[in-house]
Amino acid sequence: MNMRRAEITGWGKYVPEKVLTNDDLSKIVDTTDEWIVARTGIKERRVRSATDTTTTMAVAASHDAMRVAGLTAADIDLIVVANSSPDYLLPAPANFIQHELGATCPALTIAAGCSGWVYALVTGDQFIQTGAYKCILVIGVELISYALDYTDRGTCILFGDGAAAVVIQPSQTDAGVMSFELGSDGGQAYNLWVPGGGTANPLSQKVIDQREHYIRMNGQEVFKFAVRKLTSCLNNITTQAGMSVSDLDLVIPHQANLRIIETAARSLNLPMDKFFVNLHKYGNTSAASIPLALVEAIEEGRLKAGDVTGMVAFGSGLSWAGAVMRMGAKVGAVNAAPVEAAALL
Ligand SMILES: CC(C)(COP(=O)(O)OP(=O)(O)OC[C@H]1O[C@@H](n2cnc3c(N)ncnc32)[C@H](O)[C@@H]1OP(=O)(O)O)[C@@H](O)C(=O)NCCC(=O)NCCS
Repeated sequence: MNMRRAEITGWGKYVPEKVLTNDDLSKIVDTTDEWIVARTGIKERRVRSATDTTTTMAVAASHDAMRVAGLTAADIDLIVVANSSPDYLLPAPANFIQHELGATCPALTIAAGCSGWVYALVTGDQFIQTGAYKCILVIGVELISYALDYTDRGTCILFGDGAAAVVIQPSQTDAGVMSFELGSDGGQAYNLWVPGGGTANPLSQKVIDQREHYIRMNGQEVFKFAVRKLTSCLNNITTQAGMSVSDLDLVIPHQANLRIIETAARSLNLPMDKFFVNLHKYGNTSAASIPLALVEAIEEGRLKAGDVTGMVAFGSGLSWAGAVMRMGAKVGAVNAAPVEAAALL
């Protein structure tokens, strides 16, 4: 079989217009801009306006990605959506997104929290490698503000809404996914979870009164897990790709907390300028975090054709996922100025 790596040929993003600053949050919960910046590095995040849904955000990002790739919805063979904040519990978000894009291909959703998009990328890569599909849209989208308890200062300050998408296609060169690691430690599930609203604890007045339909987190345990996995996963995937961490042109870490990234950078002995950071603008956008950072890294010229990036995500599960990827000829060769999604409709 002629195995081909999957390379990125298109990219796009969408973030809601509405900005929620740390000062805005300090009017809602007992916190300050100084505390949030010092403990997380986050300055502001985007939150949905009335017209933003998981579907509309994903569709806007996908239109940009397809435009850059020079493709229409009819060209897409598979849509993989990483999401844990669906518009409805049934069907899964991928079906709504497929329909709104006007695509007729299969569409599947991967719910793996903040690790979801790397899981989705690796899943898409397998279909490209086997030759089953030639053109795959890999989307990370999260409207996580709906699951935040805006009376809990330990969680509501961290997260924001957003979406990003890439198109992957078979590479004619050595560009593409070079290695990956996927992981799950379900024994730590209750360190980051939503206790109510599922089948174990269905939605009821009691669930609502006790605010169990919102995210609960043991921040310190998640912090330790994140530092450990960012470090070990980056080491593992670079070794597997036949290189060392210092050979990477850019590291794209999950944008959860600047202190997590700085601690991992110290233990990996890497300078901070090797790490792409945009969490100050968006906070933690969960499954959208890595693709949003990847898209901005490409748009800002931090990644060019031939460059190799190491991406590592971690989050609820607890789960983690990493991939090393070489950028193909398209990256850096296209004027990446985003076109308004509306212009394509
Ligand atoms: C949430 C997090 C920022 C808290 O920072 P921390 O340094 O661990 O803080 P602690 O939980 O030890 O709390 C220290 C104090 O700050 C307080 N505090 C918590 N959130 C606060 C806020 N937003 N503003 C002001 N004070 C806050 C706590 O109540 C505590 O007060 P106390 O000492 O009087 O009890 C940090 O644990 C973290 O980022 N963890 C990882 C979370 C994450 O990334 N999750 C997503 C992964 S995908």
